[in-house]
Amino acid sequence: MIKQMKHALFLALSLPLCGAPINLTSPDEAILLSVNLADSVTYSISRGEEKLLTPSPLGFEIKNQPTLSGPFERIAEQRTTIDDTWSPVWGQFNSIHNHANELKLTLKEQAAPHRQIHLTFRAYDDGVAFRYHFPEQPSLHQFEITNELTTFNLAADFQTWWVEALPDTYERNYNETPLSDCAERGASTPVTLKTPRGTHLAIHEANLTDWAGMKLKGSGTSLQTDLVPWFESDVKVKANTPHSSPWRVILIGSNAGDLAESQLILNLNEPCAIEDTSWIQPAKFMGIWWGMISGVWGWEYYPHPEKHGATTERALRYIDACAEMNIPCLLIEGWCEGWEGDIPGWADMNMLKTYPDFDIQRVTDYGKSKGVTLVGHHETGGNITNYENQLPEAFELYNRYGISRIKTGYVTGDIPLYTEGLTEPGREHHHGQFAVRHHQKIIELAAKHKIMICAHEPIKATGLSRTWPNFVAREGARGGEFNHFIGNPPAQTGILPFTRLLGGPMDYTPALFDCAYTPDKRFGTRSQQLSLMVTIFSPLVMAADLYQSYHNEPAAQFIKNIPVGKWDETQVLAAEIGDYLVTTRRHDQNWFLGATNNEDARELTLPLDFLDPGTTYEVLLYQDGPGADFEKNPYPVEIRNYKVTSSDSLNLILARGGGAAAEFYPEGTNYEKPSGNPGLLEENKTYTLQAKHSGRLLTARGREVQQFAAHTNRNQNWTLKKTGNGNWLVTNGTNAITATGSQNGDAVALEPIDPENPNQHWNIKHIVGSWFHLENPASKRLLDVAEVNYADGANLHIWDFAHGANQVWSLTTKP
Ligand code: NOJ
Ligand code: CA
Repeated sequence: MIKQMKHALFLALSLPLCGAPINLTSPDEAILLSVNLADSVTYSISRGEEKLLTPSPLGFEIKNQPTLSGPFERIAEQRTTIDDTWSPVWGQFNSIHNHANELKLTLKEQAAPHRQIHLTFRAYDDGVAFRYHFPEQPSLHQFEITNELTTFNLAADFQTWWVEALPDTYERNYNETPLSDCAERGASTPVTLKTPRGTHLAIHEANLTDWAGMKLKGSGTSLQTDLVPWFESDVKVKANTPHSSPWRVILIGSNAGDLAESQLILNLNEPCAIEDTSWIQPAKFMGIWWGMISGVWGWEYYPHPEKHGATTERALRYIDACAEMNIPCLLIEGWCEGWEGDIPGWADMNMLKTYPDFDIQRVTDYGKSKGVTLVGHHETGGNITNYENQLPEAFELYNRYGISRIKTGYVTGDIPLYTEGLTEPGREHHHGQFAVRHHQKIIELAAKHKIMICAHEPIKATGLSRTWPNFVAREGARGGEFNHFIGNPPAQTGILPFTRLLGGPMDYTPALFDCAYTPDKRFGTRSQQLSLMVTIFSPLVMAADLYQSYHNEPAAQFIKNIPVGKWDETQVLAAEIGDYLVTTRRHDQNWFLGATNNEDARELTLPLDFLDPGTTYEVLLYQDGPGADFEKNPYPVEIRNYKVTSSDSLNLILARGGGAAAEFYPEGTNYEKPSGNPGLLEENKTYTLQAKHSGRLLTARGREVQQFAAHTNRNQNWTLKKTGNGNWLVTNGTNAITATGSQNGDAVALEPIDPENPNQHWNIKHIVGSWFHLENPASKRLLDVAEVNYADGANLHIWDFAHGANQVWSLTTKP
């Protein structure tokens, strides 16, 4: 809503000479932008006494035309002050101030063909932006840009955080190097820099519409625009006049937190284009997902239906788990035909046809009865033609089942998209103009169908969610999935909020409490996983782990309690990029805090002066417990509950690769406190034991012990009895599970209960949530499903600990 709009608009009647700089200052007068029209057009930027950008050229190379970079004649100049306040549909603030001084130059080439170009500059207190506009004119109709000449000449070899410039993926680790290394190797934006005085800058683009994605490369301290081309072409952008470029943006702040708090990228986008936005709602979600990412289940049904993840039965169990966790949405991947084969090859998906073991009607009906809606999934495999051919039907299908959120995906294995079907040669880059147009088409069509989109392998975020708030989130960086693929160095999650996230929300998929942690694929501690729900902003936040990992875990209370996506205000309390950050966000009267740390243990003391001064708050603090260390033991979380006021400080002890999360409630607020007791097993209680990899239950069959799907007529109840030496007997009637030997591969069988027999003793070791290992102390080997078999009837044996999901059991009590 526009509160106030001041216009100071004039047309320069007597324009200064071409050589004199044309200046524009920010409303607080700290930032000075100078434009010079001498031979060619250049701009420079300083802040106070500090030079940030030295004269940097602007312009274009256009196919079959002379270069468009001046010298120009200034034929008009307009100055405006923009001062309005608007409320986003969701976001990090409930109200956003858009305050800038604007300068619009109408320029005309001094030499033939005398083409005109408009340059609009804006100076904000938190940065500078400019864009080009090509007006309709006799000498410019249809044209092709072969090179955008926009340059960023930084004043010195600043410290820089950047990600490799690839035309088809952003999924690489961020680097921290001197600027000159970044220039030489090339980067996708945002690129973030720090000057020796501590000023922080970020170069990015806003409102990337019908243009090619911006990469940067250069030499020394100069970065030049390097647009992603049309495939195997020298053409970067195809356009007809009138046409505008995206905004080129330089965010400027006194510290790293200023960049993360800046709303400048959103301010540079157009107001909301959707009239009724009531259906656009942030949400938390769980997923039938991590099981596929970690290789425990398959997305595909054929040729191993027994391994298929998206079954009706599993979906019903997950819906129950969502309802218990206060989580309103469930993502289900791999429910439609077409997932067979490897990447690239997920390219002939049939998004209109479910696999035989997935009953979408039954699942959505059950979800409705529990207050849980599905998040749909369209993995395109990068085959744009195949996807667009199935629209709008694929949206209508979801509309019929009341599904209003869709995760899309463009996985190709980092190679270009397919644009003419798989057998044809047509290809286009993920980050080129073709893909930008595709994503725009999808978001507008989705809006018509009241569908929110969360795109993976997307085009980068440039603040378009202001105009299209149904574009709720995107991936577009290394997310949690890499915790399984190769591991994510903990420092990366401390870089993302100051780089990738400056463009817009990220579907990072946090909150992995995973028991499949392996020393060769390291990521942050469990407390750090919680912190990411705060520090990595998104209106869609996943609790990414298998639901059994949260069962009975007191730390899962944070996942239950945290609201997402619609924050009233946000503050970065402390940050050094890549080292640590502490972010706090307010929702109504309550504050939620996340602290993310890199690989060095540290202690932080933070004044709580963001809290309301007259109020006493109850705080729930989750932090790394004794022994927590991302390399050795990521699990311990210590939870404290005490009272604070705004004059107190919060002392955080952050482990190596650690983190912390906190909830603050005004005293007297009714909030749910952590409960549960992980790992508590009770004598004489009856349990089911579910194998993590297959979801099948430990089943007694005569003397044999096998895995079978849950079945009322099968003998799948196990009663625990204590042995007297801290171990357990796992009994079924008068028999107990017994190792028949002590070597790898020796079967387990049912034999009459004999508490003295060490082969019947099991040390049931807690991992996380309801997951356990069952170790036979006599052989030091684990209860294991033979051959990692997924099928009904697979036999059990003992085997050395091997980080296998077929050695992990979920123990759940039967009522
Ligand atoms: C990669 C995505 O990032 C991931 O979330 C998804 O599960 C797979 N592609 C399959 O679509
Ligand atoms: Ca991905």
